[in-house]
Amino acid sequence: MRVISENAWAKLNLALHVTGKRDDGYHLLDSLVVFAISSDEICVSAATELSLSIEGPMAAGLSGSADNLVLQAARALTKYAATQGHTVDGANIVLKKRLPVAAGIGGGSADAAATLRALNQLWSLNLEQAELEGIGVGLGADVPVCIGERSTRISGIGTELKPIARMPMFHLVLVNPNIAVSTPAIFKALDKADNAPMVDPPSSAEMDDWLCWLQATRNDLYAPAVKLCPAIDDVLAALKQEGAKFARMSGSGATCFGIFDDFDQAQSAAVTILKAHPHWWVDAAETI
Ligand code: C5P
Repeated sequence: MRVISENAWAKLNLALHVTGKRDDGYHLLDSLVVFAISSDEICVSAATELSLSIEGPMAAGLSGSADNLVLQAARALTKYAATQGHTVDGANIVLKKRLPVAAGIGGGSADAAATLRALNQLWSLNLEQAELEGIGVGLGADVPVCIGERSTRISGIGTELKPIARMPMFHLVLVNPNIAVSTPAIFKALDKADNAPMVDPPSSAEMDDWLCWLQATRNDLYAPAVKLCPAIDDVLAALKQEGAKFARMSGSGATCFGIFDDFDQAQSAAVTILKAHPHWWVDAAETI
């Protein structure tokens, strides 16, 4: 039986500025998103009905709504395919959940995007990336950027995408204190929505330029997140203590990333942090 598998790479917000709020409650963002080689996996195979099973070390953390996003993606693609004159069968979908849930690194959005990519192949729909992104908008603000999985400056509510042409590879350690953080709760607790946008990112691939740029940017969701989850500060302190040149929370938290000189340093920092905090989720990963 043909099985198609797609990785759902972890999405990281190197910087995330909240620049406004719409009447419908959604916030306007200016954020730089990259993807790290640490992932969930979606495997699909042909079947007459749609079904989803969830495996992997983080499977237990999934509630109904998170796994539904994968099925919602499959149903949205089925519906879109019908508008294009395609009748599709079902699929057996397996989600191998390795990334922490409600963690500020894409999670459900990356899984939904991987589902769209995998089913587009399984069902031989040949839809363009832009069409998949269009379907993704209806599933969640982060889904479109997770379709292409490339370094991107996002704006609007997160659905306007501008690819970054040049950027160095980052050697990272990702750390989550194993505390789920609700994205709507963090946006709700945000004091001020009309903040300045990011300064433009460097056009070079020089790490020093990027470190300088990172110092001049923020994650505006850090302040509300650390109030609800003070362990975020322990995570940032651990990354800095192990030699991170820069450390910041991603998305609405609680996952934080640290930037290291090379992959060996990142790996040994990850080992040390996990030893000191065996209940945390820790992974050394490079950007795509
Ligand atoms: O779009 P998604 O379902 O991933 O967003 C989850 C929640 O995060 C939204 O219901 C909203 O409360 C908040 N959000 C926001 N502004 C954004 C993206 C998300 O307020 N740009």
